[in-house]
Amino acid sequence: MERTFIMLKPDAVQRGLVGQVIARFEAKGCKLVGMKLMKVDRALAEQHYAEHKGKAFFEPTVNYIMSSPVVATVWEGKSVVAIARELMGSTNPAGANPGTIRGAYGMDISRNVIHGSDSVSSADREIALYFKTEEILEYDKAGQEWLSE
Ligand code: TYD
Ligand code: MG
Repeated sequence: MERTFIMLKPDAVQRGLVGQVIARFEAKGCKLVGMKLMKVDRALAEQHYAEHKGKAFFEPTVNYIMSSPVVATVWEGKSVVAIARELMGSTNPAGANPGTIRGAYGMDISRNVIHGSDSVSSADREIALYFKTEEILEYDKAGQEWLSE
């Protein structure tokens, strides 16, 4: 089953949005298989955003995700990577659809509430950065048969 890595960024935690954001993934039908509240150190933050190294926003973005605790999560489901990106909305909350998480809760690209993997291969890489194998739990979730064939 496909998995994705979702981080509730420091602004989500500081603004008390954790429950509301998690609720959207649950309501959609995504299955929570990993979750922790944690501080991100510089080495991890730089690995997380390695693809953006050298860009003007790299350093501020690394500093931002190190600035306060985040909630790191892993979700499972059919096409969950693409579904999560749809739930999140576009990178800049200023132009994101207000029905999306970034559109509903954010004002500015530098504080866009949430991170989500952009592909299955990014998800694999990011999950491995943040979680040990044994921190991803396998269990049967009630009602899965009502979500897809
Ligand atoms: P990116 O991977 O392009 O966006 P996404 O998070 O939607 O996959 O960029 C990573 C983060 O870097 C983004 O969430 C916010 C920050 N960022 C800026 O601050 N300014 C920018 O111009 C861009 C493109 C990103
Ligand atoms: Mg990205």
